Amino acid sequence: MINSKVEAALNEQINAEFWSAYLYLSMANYFNSIGLSGFANWMEVQFEEEVFHARKFMSYLNERGGRVLLKPIEEVQTEWEGTLNVFEDTLAHEEKVTSLVNNLMDIAIKEGDHATKSFLQWFIDEQVEEEANVSEILDSLRLINGEGHGLFMMDKEMKARAFVAPAE
Ligand code: FEO
Repeated sequence: MINSKVEAALNEQINAEFWSAYLYLSMANYFNSIGLSGFANWMEVQFEEEVFHARKFMSYLNERGGRVLLKPIEEVQTEWEGTLNVFEDTLAHEEKVTSLVNNLMDIAIKEGDHATKSFLQWFIDEQVEEEANVSEILDSLRLINGEGHGLFMMDKEMKARAFVAPAE
């Protein structure tokens, strides 16, 4: 049976993952509204990844005999100042998620919950990848100043991304 402090912290993280999913879906819709369907596709895949993360946390909590309690998902931003602004926000958001996962790990360590520590390691590694992917896109966008022919070419590349459930 899972410790109640760890259970509460995992429930908060489930809400944070769904909030991330909602944020990326909002960004996808923003990109569609400005005619960048490739960037919209990239964000829709990001949305699916976040739902996968939430489901992974829910399965784990259920497996440990905890109770998943879904809470309301807070409102997300709907407008940005352009592509660069969206990816600056995305990187800042992923850095925040990294600190949430690190904080969860701290709680698991403090509570002596070795199973949760082992489970969270996947998310610690995943965040390294998430931040690296977003940084790479942000660097490219800065090179082209988020506009012109370069943006058109990037949009085509972003269209190729497809959701593949990450390896467990
Ligand atoms: Fe669930 Fe993008 O971290």
